[in-house]
Amino acid sequence: MADYGTFIENIKRKTGIDLSLYKEAQMKRRLTSLYEKRGYRNFNDYYAAIHNNKDMLEEFLDRMTINVSEFYRNAQRWDVLEKKIFPKLLANNKKLKIWSAACSTGEEPYTIAMVLSNHIPLRDISILATDLDVGVLEKAKVGLYPERSLKEAPTPIVSKYFNNEGAFYQVKDEVKRTVTFKQHNLLDDRYDTGYDLIVCRNVMIYFTEEAKDQIYRNFSNSLKPGGILFVGSTEQIFNPGKYGFESEDTFFYRKL
Ligand SMILES: C[S@@+](CC[C@H](N)C(=O)[O-])C[C@H]1O[C@@H](n2cnc3c(N)ncnc32)[C@H](O)[C@@H]1O
Repeated sequence: MADYGTFIENIKRKTGIDLSLYKEAQMKRRLTSLYEKRGYRNFNDYYAAIHNNKDMLEEFLDRMTINVSEFYRNAQRWDVLEKKIFPKLLANNKKLKIWSAACSTGEEPYTIAMVLSNHIPLRDISILATDLDVGVLEKAKVGLYPERSLKEAPTPIVSKYFNNEGAFYQVKDEVKRTVTFKQHNLLDDRYDTGYDLIVCRNVMIYFTEEAKDQIYRNFSNSLKPGGILFVGSTEQIFNPGKYGFESEDTFFYRKL
């Protein structure tokens, strides 16, 4: 499938997204099943279609960015964030600078706000939430979720911070106001600095080793000394010292 190389070049030129930094077998499989479903036989024909049709381009972007998320995903880890990590961070500083990177449809940054609200009032919380995909950011701003997205969320939290609207749950405005959504490409854009906490979960699994290496370096430079990186539950960093991190708890790394 030599035409995948050409497809990568074309997509980079058209969208700025570099597919060569995503694991190849996995990405090819996802895209091949999509173009076959649409009746194309190879990446060349598929690119010609994408190039001329905005809806097809959007469908491609939607397929390449895997947007699955939920509130309190891996609930025990959020317990560690609440009981161990936040008390330590708040001991030095009550105004935390927080980034939810690759936030998808918003479940993750809203969960951060809900967890942190057990320590400080919502009005003192400010979280930057970013994703490559502008479509998910629009959904995140609306903040309307099916019941299954909340299955790990504690019942008192659901009663306190959501309005139930039929089969859906709407995040209350007081929580929405804590989060600012912005587009950001982890593989290309500049990283801001001075963070106390960066949460980046369930996206590193899609990247090549070189891409991951660069992103961990960037996160390390973005965190204050003593700041924490919270990663996904299959995404341990095998040599944290290489990036100036030490392990603080399972899936939490402290910048030295
Ligand atoms: C599986 S979701 C993870 C959502 C959330 N962090 C969680 O753990 O539930 C992966 C997200 O990564 C985003 N993504 C993929 N490539 C990205 C990139 N280069 N820069 C920023 N976000 C990216 C996708 O758009 C998608 O929303």
